[in-house]
Amino acid sequence: MDNAVPTMLPVGCLKDQVGVITGGGSGIGFGIAQQLAALGAHLVLAGRHAEKLEQAAEQLRGLGVEVVAVPTDVRQPQEVEHLFAVTRERFHRVDMLVNAAAGNFIVDSEKLSVNGWNAVVGSVLHGTFYCTRAAGLAMIEQGHGGRILSVVASYAWTGGPKTVHSVAAKAGVIALTRTLAVEWAHYGIRVNAICPGPTDTEGARPLWEDPETRQRVLARIPVGRFGTVTEVAQAASYLLSPYADFVNGEVLVIDGGEWLGKGLTS
Ligand code: HXC
Repeated sequence: MDNAVPTMLPVGCLKDQVGVITGGGSGIGFGIAQQLAALGAHLVLAGRHAEKLEQAAEQLRGLGVEVVAVPTDVRQPQEVEHLFAVTRERFHRVDMLVNAAAGNFIVDSEKLSVNGWNAVVGSVLHGTFYCTRAAGLAMIEQGHGGRILSVVASYAWTGGPKTVHSVAAKAGVIALTRTLAVEWAHYGIRVNAICPGPTDTEGARPLWEDPETRQRVLARIPVGRFGTVTEVAQAASYLLSPYADFVNGEVLVIDGGEWLGKGLTS
């Protein structure tokens, strides 16, 4: 097996487990997929763009696991149903769900259209619920528990001017995470979230592409740099692994101290 992915957990600790990853074709979702595959999990990648998804799947198969790509818009409940039907038909189990699908753009709130609001809240909050419900039902029926992990952002609790759609949706995902962590614990299902700070991904880069914005964002990060996908994905793999079996309802922030960096001089 060609395993060039740096993992912090023992290779094989997720052997033969099955994970569904929305937004798994790129960015943080793909980084998490790489970690899980390197640790031995079979994967189902969901995303809107079939070609990108299949390329990602092919790359992951090189790590020696089975990977299926299922083009899915998580805003469409029927497509989410299909995603889990394919997963169960192919693998007969679902052990992990990662909700990494998201959409975001910068806009003055008074200019945000209803469609714009729906596009973001639909994929981040509604999509997370549709997928979480489907995964939870499968895990409950299987009877051996599971782990669910969602990707959020710290502006969910600090507020985030010009991203009101994403802020509101991510806050909803955190509330959902904490609620289901309690409600589903007796089924053996753990529900957690990771909260990456500014991370150098293709999707996020345009948000700080002009040099002035980039400098402003960097100046807010105490460690003085953007995060890497690998750093975020390794933290995700911990929460999805048996090493975190007593971690439930947690929102793990991986941001170099960014959200704390507010004081008299900053
Ligand atoms: C204003 C916009 C807009 C923009 C879309 N809309 N982009 N309004 N400014 N930049 C509006 C459209 O005008 C339309 O409303 C409605 O939203 C739907 O737009 P569509 O393009 O038709 O929808 P769709 O194809 O579904 O895509 C919408 C999207 C898109 C999901 C929001 O932006 C997208 O595909 N994003 C994926 C990439 C991404 O979001 N990357 C950022 C993730 S990283 P009207 O009224 O005109 O019909 C990230 C990091 C956070 O979020 C950093 C935290 C530290």
